Amino acid sequence: MANVAVLASGSGSNFQAIAEAFSDPVQNPSGHRVVLLVCDKPGAYCLERATRLGIPSIVVAYGKGGQEVRQTAEREMTGALESFGVDMVVLAGYMRILTPLFVGRWQGKLINIHPALLPKHPGAHGIADSWASEDRELGVTIHWVDEGVDTGQIIVQTAFPRTAGMTLEAAEAKIHVLEHKLYPITVLKLLGGN
Ligand code: GRF
Repeated sequence: MANVAVLASGSGSNFQAIAEAFSDPVQNPSGHRVVLLVCDKPGAYCLERATRLGIPSIVVAYGKGGQEVRQTAEREMTGALESFGVDMVVLAGYMRILTPLFVGRWQGKLINIHPALLPKHPGAHGIADSWASEDRELGVTIHWVDEGVDTGQIIVQTAFPRTAGMTLEAAEAKIHVLEHKLYPITVLKLLGGN
């Protein structure tokens, strides 16, 4: 049985999909647990979801500034993650760049989901960038987190063809449906025992 924490900044739909899969004994017979949501944005909707799901949450306040400020927040996060006995940290729309301090501490236990087919279109605008490209396929990537931006080793990808007449909204919706399916399955698979 392993403990997972999710880090999110916004809506938290992936967080919810993971939490719901974890609470399904058919999908998660080993009883792995989502024990904590960490959010950097007071008032973000993911916090409301955590309350509804009965999962503890904390808000880590980032001050203004560079690496030093980020590392202060990261020390706070690591303290909380350790106190909850976290074995794996799952980034799901966490819009902060993590420094080598945090990445080093959680290396091999830190994963992210990206709404594009990496290594193409890294960064904060994966969907818009892949939509604007000539790519004939769109999709989703789950990868280990290293010190770069969306550069870590790829764990799994899933793609779908861009069809004639497809709108950006439809593509976006399809990407989110894929994310909500693929992320919980992948996290549970990595934790093993299922
Ligand atoms: C997802 O599209 C994810 O791929 C990206 O940020 C978005 C988060 O959405 N990294 P949500 O907060 O889980 O709804």
